[in-house]
Amino acid sequence: MSKKAPLPARKLKPATVAVHEGALRSQFNETAESIFLTQGYIYDSMEQAEARFNNTDPGFQYSRFSNPTVTMFENRMAALEGAEAARATATGMAAVTAAILSFVNAGEHIVAAKALFGSCRYIIEDLAPRFGITSTLVDGSDLDQWQEAVRPNTKAFFLETPTNPTLDIYDISAVAEIAHAAGAKLIIDNVFATPVFQKPLALGADVVCYSATKHIDGQGRTLGGIVLGTEEFVTGPLQMFLRQTGPSLSPFNAWVMLKGLETLALRVEKAAANAAKIADFLADHPKVTRAIYPFRPDHPHVALARKQMTAGSTLVTFDVRGGKAEAFRFGGALEIVKITNNLGDAKSLITHPATTTHQRLTPEARAELGIGDSMLRLSVGIEDADDLIEDISIALDAI
Ligand SMILES: Cc1ncc(COP(=O)(O)O)c(C=O)c1O
Repeated sequence: MSKKAPLPARKLKPATVAVHEGALRSQFNETAESIFLTQGYIYDSMEQAEARFNNTDPGFQYSRFSNPTVTMFENRMAALEGAEAARATATGMAAVTAAILSFVNAGEHIVAAKALFGSCRYIIEDLAPRFGITSTLVDGSDLDQWQEAVRPNTKAFFLETPTNPTLDIYDISAVAEIAHAAGAKLIIDNVFATPVFQKPLALGADVVCYSATKHIDGQGRTLGGIVLGTEEFVTGPLQMFLRQTGPSLSPFNAWVMLKGLETLALRVEKAAANAAKIADFLADHPKVTRAIYPFRPDHPHVALARKQMTAGSTLVTFDVRGGKAEAFRFGGALEIVKITNNLGDAKSLITHPATTTHQRLTPEARAELGIGDSMLRLSVGIEDADDLIEDISIALDAI
């Protein structure tokens, strides 16, 4: 029988929670969390099977519903985030889709910021309307627009902050107030901020989603996602949606994520320190026309960023002098930094959003969001900052 690994009852700090919370130990008392790679669970009797299915016996039933390794990951994440409960999913997009579609019904309405990851915009702009859910997209930094978009049938507000790739910062507390006055839930995609740098629930949000694929795995291996919120939401509509539609996280991937959480703070703090140095280097470089980093004094939302985050994120976005050809020349000349559309890895990664992550948007929609052909998004890793700056400097010289 696996049992909860003992921890003191007193409140523990995040670094301790990330290493110990949620662990279940089998009869072997293993140190590292086990991978329970099983589809199902054997019942002692028909009576016990019946009791599992009518929820009078609390054990596991089937790994589409829950699994001990996945439960460890969910409980550790909930403790870190300060959430009552959490459910893991196969990918970040499964988390976002479930967070929205589990409780918004046909005939209801969503308000979302325009600056969203491309697939999230697809869910809100293209998929939801096919099921009778309408939406209004707003400039996330304009509180009047959030307010004006509210309709009597508004059920959810959705935003990401910092945004991908322009690193805008939106006011979670202020948007939460507008959402709650309208009787709607505020859902935050907290991928860019990470659970270390920003706590949306403490700021007033109702639901938080992550692509665990990013910083939580943190070493570019497995896909995963997670949704966190109140016990009522998570064990109610969310659990029903996930259990019946089936985007379950594999126990193996949950184990990778659990181990990722142990080093999450170390990794993202180092990467954010690197990012801050790189942003300062880029901002002063003659071949860079704009460097965007939320904690720099020239960021338009720096005061808000410093109020609601504890670091400026692991991402830096910038425009090189010129256009697509110059941006491509720069990317092609990098040797340490790798070209990919992913982010949140220990390795530094460069992306040209206009031709990859945001290619689906029309040129006008990209222009409205400030995503030009000269823009590059750098996901900063945990390498030595001086080596990264040298790599970037050589590549800028190649333009
Ligand atoms: C902000 C944001 N949300 C959601 C996702 C989706 O995550 P996944 O690729 O794990 O489905 C991503 C990245 O892909 C992202 O950058």
